[in-house]
Amino acid sequence: MKHMVPRQAELDTPCLVLDVDQLEDNLRRMQHLASDAGKDLRPHAKTHKCSALCAKQVEMGAIGVCAAKVSEADALVRAGIGGILITGPVVTAAKLARLMKLVRQSPDLTVVVDSPDGVAQLDRALDEAGLAMQVLIDLDVGLGRTGVKPDRSQVLVNSVHSSLRLTLRGVQAYAGHVQHIPSLIQRADQSDAALRPAVNLYRALQTGIPSCTVFSASGTGTHSMDLGVPEITELQVGSYALMDAEYLAIEADGEPFRPALRLLTTVVSVDHGRHVTVDAGLKSLYRDGGAPRVIKGGGPDLIYDWFGDEYGRISHSGHGLLPDLGARLEIVVSHCDPTVNLFDRYHVIQNGRVVDEWPIDLRGCSQ
Ligand SMILES: Cc1ncc(COP(=O)(O)O)c(C=O)c1O
Repeated sequence: MKHMVPRQAELDTPCLVLDVDQLEDNLRRMQHLASDAGKDLRPHAKTHKCSALCAKQVEMGAIGVCAAKVSEADALVRAGIGGILITGPVVTAAKLARLMKLVRQSPDLTVVVDSPDGVAQLDRALDEAGLAMQVLIDLDVGLGRTGVKPDRSQVLVNSVHSSLRLTLRGVQAYAGHVQHIPSLIQRADQSDAALRPAVNLYRALQTGIPSCTVFSASGTGTHSMDLGVPEITELQVGSYALMDAEYLAIEADGEPFRPALRLLTTVVSVDHGRHVTVDAGLKSLYRDGGAPRVIKGGGPDLIYDWFGDEYGRISHSGHGLLPDLGARLEIVVSHCDPTVNLFDRYHVIQNGRVVDEWPIDLRGCSQ
């Protein structure tokens, strides 16, 4: 806070700015959508990696947040955030030992499981620590990354159900493979097909296991469809808060969420004919997802491309003017999650003024 400059135009670049009005619009809108549909919101913190932003989401009505990894959950617990769901299976002694410490501090912590072996490891760790915890069955609904296929989940369900240390709270079904399908209709069709076996399994579990009351699912790309699935009880959307070029490139259901996150970069070299060079390269703009969008500091036809670790190349799609030396550009990043992980802080801005600085305190938490 000591080094905070009052105006966005004075921020040194490259840096990340977060437009607080646009951010709050996004948060409010998703919270209203979920609440109006009778669903809970448990947004994913892996997107923004910022406990101050989690606190805002909770303040607006979220029941907690999701974490991708134990180390992210650790940082969130330290920041006083409750209602955490770890959305990936936790195996190996080091991770389980860390998890046990967290369960002791935050007894409502929930984790997903996706194998009977994993359940046995977790059960043993809890037994040795004298603890108990709640779990969700992670269902693989087509992404093939983690989870058990719904039609092969019975052994896993039995192993959780027979444990004295574990309470089966429900299922998680994240259809990551459909989130960025460009056509809304195709996305809806594929999402429906992907979720159907999970829905059937959840219904069956609910009839036999009273503690089974949670169906956690969704991402920004399918949130509007998932709101209409009666079995889904909570949305674990992430990118809607910040947004990125990858999500802006697909067909939205209504107005897209607003690109609250921008990368600021400066033109540092100009005498190159058809392009100029800016000070943001691979180390500040992660290369994944949609083409970055230059939204301020030049015409709409400017194109960003990576130019090594430290630099980017700005060219023009037509014959228009290139920005001058020292010009400052605002860029919507390709993929928000990995880009955020390259920075220590967000400069929080409002009407061109820097009003706060939020540490990206989950940065580098990949264990
Ligand atoms: C398990 C899980 N849930 C939810 C999300 C949030 O998805 P999105 O950022 O598309 O909203 C992600 C993102 O990758 C995820 O991995």
